[in-house]
Amino acid sequence: MATKTGATKKNERVFYRRNGCRVCGSKDLAKYFDFGDMPFANSFLKSEHDEEIRAPLQVMYCNNCSNSQLSVVVNPKYLFSSYLYHSSVSETFNVHCSGLAEYAISLFGRRNLKCLDIGSNDGTLLKQFKRRDCEVIGLDPAANICEQANRDGIRTVCAFWGKDGASQIVEKSGKQDIVTATNVFAHVDDAHGFVSSVLDVLSDEGVFIVEVPYAREMVRKKEFDTIYHEHLSYFLVNPLDRLFSMHGMRICNISEFDIHGGSLRISVIKGSNSSIKINKEIVDHYTSLERKEGLNTIKPYMKMAVEVEQLKKKFLAKLKELKSKGMRIAGYGASAKGNVFLNYCGLDRDDIEFIVDDTKQKQGLLYPGTRIPVVLSSWIMEKKPDYILILAWNFTQEIMKKTEDFSKRGGKYIIAIPELKII
Ligand code: TMP
Ligand code: ZN
Repeated sequence: MATKTGATKKNERVFYRRNGCRVCGSKDLAKYFDFGDMPFANSFLKSEHDEEIRAPLQVMYCNNCSNSQLSVVVNPKYLFSSYLYHSSVSETFNVHCSGLAEYAISLFGRRNLKCLDIGSNDGTLLKQFKRRDCEVIGLDPAANICEQANRDGIRTVCAFWGKDGASQIVEKSGKQDIVTATNVFAHVDDAHGFVSSVLDVLSDEGVFIVEVPYAREMVRKKEFDTIYHEHLSYFLVNPLDRLFSMHGMRICNISEFDIHGGSLRISVIKGSNSSIKINKEIVDHYTSLERKEGLNTIKPYMKMAVEVEQLKKKFLAKLKELKSKGMRIAGYGASAKGNVFLNYCGLDRDDIEFIVDDTKQKQGLLYPGTRIPVVLSSWIMEKKPDYILILAWNFTQEIMKKTEDFSKRGGKYIIAIPELKII
């Protein structure tokens, strides 16, 4: 196996170690998770001979502001240049985007709004805004995905978000009423630069809506598999409130969604914006809830790390038992989470024969680390495994519905997180 561990590739830095907190700058950071060197969760391999790059995967807690972040930052080039994640594959996400567009527009007493989506992927969210008479523009660093979005009629700039991207947006489309960033803010190293660039494009009466996985949910549901190199930060409301305040911005609303295992939707406005009402109660509710649950101490995070180790032991014991009975197991959903899970458990294709995924671009590739092949979902009916391990557990219902024929002929499902379950 051509595995490369270390900080350089062709004399280029693959990752660097981050010593200060991304939010408050404090160096008082304590480690609570250490997965060792892990391959990049979305870097699928084309063949057995492909070079596989690894980097340390460790999570640090900031004793000053309660933000969690990875100990290293991988050069984004290795993670995002050809992204295989297509958000439109999931119907659940489409429905979520429709709700987000409705909500954002409802904050204004008018239509024909200008909307920018940062990290717009294949334009799934912007299509929902466009359908509601908004003028839309997207920005995404993955060239393959930008091309597709542009072909589909969603104007998309291919760039990383920052000062340059922001000026391209203003040049092409002017200041924006609604700026969205769903599932991208936790991916950026320079969170302050990100917000500062949002201020460059946001109109004075506009709203910035950011959605991030909620670290409180990660801890509560032991979603350790959401920890991977793309996810640099694991946010709570407290550090986010602090971060936005540092830019003269104010959180005006917070809501929670099940998407991606439990996410926060935080709406933020410029301090001078009096046209959108601030829901102070909801901000106070979350900040005090987090304190009440001790999330401003390292304790719950350490506890989670211990429980995750137990969960792995239980899962591996069950797997051994099933294998000893001659059971054949396939996976469903070649998600990044699945990759973390399989690598953490040290599995390979002797344990899990193949993984099905409806994303065309992933089919025919190998999962990094475990080298398990990713194939079409029709393999479930053709190869007839006895068990499906649901790796994309956030879409369990949708996946079970899609595989009704499998369960009708006696097939069973394994769900490992937050507790081992056989259905
Ligand atoms: P995610 O959890 O990172 O969103 O990834 C989910 C993966 O599962 C993604 O690769 C798409 C795949 N998937 C299917 O193949 N079929 C489905 O019905 C659903 C919901 C997801
Ligand atoms: Zn901090």
